[in-house]
Amino acid sequence: MATVSETSSTQRIETIHAKNLINGEWREAASGERFESRNPADTREVVGIAPKSDAEDIAEAVRAARNAFPGWAALSWVKRGEILDNFAQLIKRDVESLSRLITRECGKPINEGRADVVETLHMVQFAAALGRMPVGDCVSSEIPDKDAFIRRKPKGVIGCITPWNFPMAIPLWEMAPSLIAGNTIILKPSEETPICAHRLFELMVEAGFPPGVVNIVHGIGEQAGAALVKHPDIDVILFTGSFQVGKLVQQQAASEAYKFVATEMGGKNAVIVLDDADLEIAVPAGVLSAFKTTGQRCVTSGRIIVDEKIVDEYQERFLKLVDRIKIGNGLQEDVFMGPLINEAGVGKYEMHNQRARDEGAEILRDGGRLTDGDLQHGHFVKPFVYRMKHSHDSFALREEAFSPHCALIPVNGLEEAVEVYNDTEYGLAMAVCTEDFRKMRYVRDHAEYGLGYVNLPSIGAEVHLPFGGVKRSGNGHPSAEGLLDAVTHRTAFTINHARRIVMAQGLSAEI
Ligand code: UN1
Repeated sequence: MATVSETSSTQRIETIHAKNLINGEWREAASGERFESRNPADTREVVGIAPKSDAEDIAEAVRAARNAFPGWAALSWVKRGEILDNFAQLIKRDVESLSRLITRECGKPINEGRADVVETLHMVQFAAALGRMPVGDCVSSEIPDKDAFIRRKPKGVIGCITPWNFPMAIPLWEMAPSLIAGNTIILKPSEETPICAHRLFELMVEAGFPPGVVNIVHGIGEQAGAALVKHPDIDVILFTGSFQVGKLVQQQAASEAYKFVATEMGGKNAVIVLDDADLEIAVPAGVLSAFKTTGQRCVTSGRIIVDEKIVDEYQERFLKLVDRIKIGNGLQEDVFMGPLINEAGVGKYEMHNQRARDEGAEILRDGGRLTDGDLQHGHFVKPFVYRMKHSHDSFALREEAFSPHCALIPVNGLEEAVEVYNDTEYGLAMAVCTEDFRKMRYVRDHAEYGLGYVNLPSIGAEVHLPFGGVKRSGNGHPSAEGLLDAVTHRTAFTINHARRIVMAQGLSAEI
């Protein structure tokens, strides 16, 4: 359903009315309440309206997902893969409109909107293909007449809680592997991007998922999200978001209803530039890692750790490239940085910048808001770049800013570079620029990360690799390729073909 928003001065834009999808039916929240989703590049534009749901709606969705589970699990992996493949075809059909919606709702530039949709497509294709791939193991037994298998069984009902920065790809990282394995799901998408999630669910209905297999309940974290986490009849919670919320999710899930939780959380990632680095790679790698998606990726690098022998040259070339960054409404093809997601994001950015100033950073680019012309209607900010010696007590150098806030940190040699890299509570993405395979190997083995890159930015993972981190970045259950382990039980299954019992370990079967 759509009406036309008169709020934007530039053009008449469709306002999309999202609903919850529960048991195959589109429904308003039981309370009848709704909330708006606005364009962060122009807050006069209401992208859509969505139901503001609470525990009652969650309970309905859990019931629907529980009832649908046995029938869905009973289908073959191949059949489930075919339905996922239908979904993939629809995503392909709609790439352009989905990409524009992403840009309008979360602000990232249109080429990033397209990449988000392509990543969504890849995840669905990957899961669909698993329908015809080996997903268990056949292992030998000590006893020749026994066949032994490791089989994957679905866990049941999966609750997915996802962020706004990849409003289509991340929901599919969680949902696609869950679905191919035979689980049913309930998505509680970010309240910043309900309409992107809504479009995905319209396509899933069109693709032919049976009622109750895929459910979506919109709302805010403290209500709908918390109700999902606490519901006793959910088997698994998959969460992607900040460390603070992820920690709360784990606590609630453990104390109020014991259940399995996989969390993907933040990062204070870095690009390490060693003294032999090829700066033709290392400089753009730094800029892309720090400022793509306006610094709002969990794999964004807020730190560029550079050997002091080359730091001056690196700095000069880095700033030259930063000064070329075009900021604006992401619907323009040549824009590199769109707005921050909301005013809270701007507040966090300003707070981190101030903390860096207070800590004595040498400010190289002072950042700040952009308010010229139409930009005044969005949450636009400029890159903030500073140079500072590492200190274990620094807030700016150790905490995630989730914005275009980036430090150049000079270090003396390889070992100090890795020590500085490791000196945060996080361990998500690490990129190292070097031409020396021995140094590369040292970093590979001594840095703490879940995603490691060489001569690349710290962003840009592919879906057929596990996506996750260590320390505060995740609890060891990665998404994307790695997710199958979180949403299936690996069961041992042994069959005896002999007409008598022969035991393993030489155990006597005499009675
Ligand atoms: C995120 O940073 O929140 O690796 C997700 C990447 C993307 C996904 C990022 N494929 O940059």
